[in-house]
Amino acid sequence: MRAPLVDGFGRVHTDLRLSLTDRCNLRCTYCMPAEGLDWLPKPELLTDDELVRLVGVFASMGVTTVRLTGGEPLLRRGLPGLVARLRALGLSLSLTTNGLGLERQAQALKDAGLDRVNVSLDTLRPERFLELTRRDRFDDVVAGLAAARRAGLEPVKINTVLMRGVNEDEAADLLRWALEHGYALRFIEQMPLDPQHGWDRGTMVDADEILEVLGRSFALTPVGQRGSAPAERFFVDGGPATVGVIGSVSRPFCASCDRLRLTADGQVRNCLFARDESDLRAPLRDGVDDDELAARLRVAVAGKKAGHGIGEPGFVQPDRPMSAIGG
Ligand code: 5AD
Ligand code: SF4
Repeated sequence: MRAPLVDGFGRVHTDLRLSLTDRCNLRCTYCMPAEGLDWLPKPELLTDDELVRLVGVFASMGVTTVRLTGGEPLLRRGLPGLVARLRALGLSLSLTTNGLGLERQAQALKDAGLDRVNVSLDTLRPERFLELTRRDRFDDVVAGLAAARRAGLEPVKINTVLMRGVNEDEAADLLRWALEHGYALRFIEQMPLDPQHGWDRGTMVDADEILEVLGRSFALTPVGQRGSAPAERFFVDGGPATVGVIGSVSRPFCASCDRLRLTADGQVRNCLFARDESDLRAPLRDGVDDDELAARLRVAVAGKKAGHGIGEPGFVQPDRPMSAIGG
C-alpha cells in the first residue's frame, strides 16, 4: 500500500470514475450532436491490460470504489472479463449506463462481480424518448432496468436530468413509476458539459425547483445528513422509499469531493470541470514502473482546485464534453 491520495485541501480520494469508451449508441440532444462526435481512435484507448494495471495503482493509493462510465460502457467489448479483473483488485464496482444492452449483459456482469448499476432515463414517454435521444429505444431501457433488478444489481438507481420545456413536467410521473418498480430515482441538475456549449444557468431546473415540483405531489422529508454523497435524499410520503436530488451546480459538494476520473485514453482528471489533465498513458507505454505512475498520479491530485467555479467570472467550460469524461 502507498500513502492515500490527498489534495491541497485535505480531501482524500477513494472513488474513481473510469471511462471505458467515449462512444455511445444514443444521441441525447443535451450530450451529443446527431452525427455523434469525433471518437477517439482505437490505438489511443487503454487496453484491458493497461486499465487493470492503472487501476491497480489507484487501488494501492486508497481508491476503494470504481464506477465504470462512458460514453456508454456496455459498448466495451469483453466487459464482464474486465469487471472480473477489476473485482480481483478488491474494489467495489458500479456501472453508469443508458440501459441499452443491459437486458443481455446484466447477469454476466453480476456474475463477474459488478455490484450496482445507475441507468439514465429522462422520460417515460416513448415518443419523447425518441426526440430526446434520437433513437427509438425506450423499451430497451425499461427491459434493461428489469434485468438489472432480476440479476440483483441493487439498488438499481435511475438518473434523470430535468430540462425546462423538455421533460420537467414528468418529474412526479418518473418518481411514481420508479417507486412502483423499486428503483431509486435521483434527479441531477444539468451541468455545463455539453459539446454545443449551450448550457444556460437561467434555464437549468435547479434543486429548489425540483423539490418544489415534487412537493406538489409527494410529502418529502430529508434523510439525515448528506455526508460526502452528492445526492440529498428525501423520504417520500413518510418512507421507506426515497428520492435523491443532486444539486451539482446550485448546491455544490466540491468541499467533500473524493472523486477522480480516468478517461478512456488514459488521462487523469481531478475534477469534472478541470481545464487540464495528466497523461498516464504515455509513461505507461514508455515502460515506467508503478512507483513512477503513482508519483504522477499524486501530482495530478495535488493540483486539484477547491471547486468547479460555475457561475464565477472566470469559469470556462472544459474542452472535453461529458461523454468523453464519464459522469
Ligand atoms: N449535466 C448533468 N448530467 C448529465 N448527463 C449527461 N450530460 C449531463 C449534464 N450536462 C448525465 C446523463 C447520465 C449521466 C452519465 O450523466 O443523463 O445520467
Ligand atoms: Fe449517450 Fe449518455 Fe450522452 Fe445520452 S447522455 S448520448 S446516453 S453518453
